[in-house]
Amino acid sequence: MRMNEFISRKMDEIFTDFQREIQEEYLCQLKDFRFDRGNIPNYNEEIMQQFYLLKYLPAYLTEYYCIYTELINENFLGTKINVLSIGAGCGIDFWGLKFAFDESEDEYELSYRGIDAVEWGYQEDFEELNYQIDCIDLGQIETIDDHYNIIIFPKSIGEFDDTTFENFLELLKNTTFSKKKLVILSSLIKTRVDWEISRVIQIVNVLEEHHGYKCKDNPNQYRVYEKNVGEEYRFEEICDTFYYPPNIKKFILELNSHCQGYEENDSEPCNEDCTIMNRHPIIKTSLVNFQILKFIRE
Ligand SMILES: C[S@@+](CC[C@H](N)C(=O)[O-])C[C@H]1O[C@@H](n2cnc3c(N)ncnc32)[C@H](O)[C@@H]1O
Repeated sequence: MRMNEFISRKMDEIFTDFQREIQEEYLCQLKDFRFDRGNIPNYNEEIMQQFYLLKYLPAYLTEYYCIYTELINENFLGTKINVLSIGAGCGIDFWGLKFAFDESEDEYELSYRGIDAVEWGYQEDFEELNYQIDCIDLGQIETIDDHYNIIIFPKSIGEFDDTTFENFLELLKNTTFSKKKLVILSSLIKTRVDWEISRVIQIVNVLEEHHGYKCKDNPNQYRVYEKNVGEEYRFEEICDTFYYPPNIKKFILELNSHCQGYEENDSEPCNEDCTIMNRHPIIKTSLVNFQILKFIRE
């Protein structure tokens, strides 16, 4: 199955559930769906998961696909790929990985373990693969297996609280890494990119100072896809298997008008701030910010 077909199937599944959900609930709770000023949506609520995925799934999947395609092209790790994904959500980064590696001419041996504090819906079964996502808080992890050669933070590194992150750094210090080569992948949230990079740098310092790795890339820099400074691409310009379903796009743009309160109020918003519910699905590369940090130990 091509990535655009997969996106179409997955988005339809989520959209069907979302439409059912909003017949029973007022949409007002989606006003809390925001990432500005330190806000993080409550992913434990089904409606938040659905709305998150409807807005971001095609864009984030394409971003992860591009990250792994670039990593494959850099030809650094060889053919055994063991991934630890921290804050994996429903596993979008794995889908990106899989589409990228499936397209490669070389044969790879893949294993993937994702962890997330929240039990996300909409996960896929990959029974034939060495794949699992565990619902566990990063703060509860006591050891990191030594066989990983990729650790990815898929839009997650800024969401751990300070204590959890400090404990994670301690855990990293006490981990035995068996691989000569290691890659840290971080997909960053645009509105807090500097803060997230400051965390990445702390990880780099642990790997260099405690494990003898040398980072071959500059951890202060991150990659973006821009035509010119500040002028982003539409995703289909950089990836021909990107797809955003037009009916879902229209629905999300006019979300406010689907609220029961709006209907009961003669097609007017029931509160002044209702219009903030109308959101833009992500179809341009403006949120693509990522790092591929390659480490080597002599
Ligand atoms: C912005 S979401 C990204 C989800 C997914 N990786 C994606 O690409 O859409 C951040 C994720 O980090 C997870 N997270 C936050 N704090 C965590 C923690 N302490 N332990 C494990 N996961 C955590 C959240 O539950 C959430 O799923």
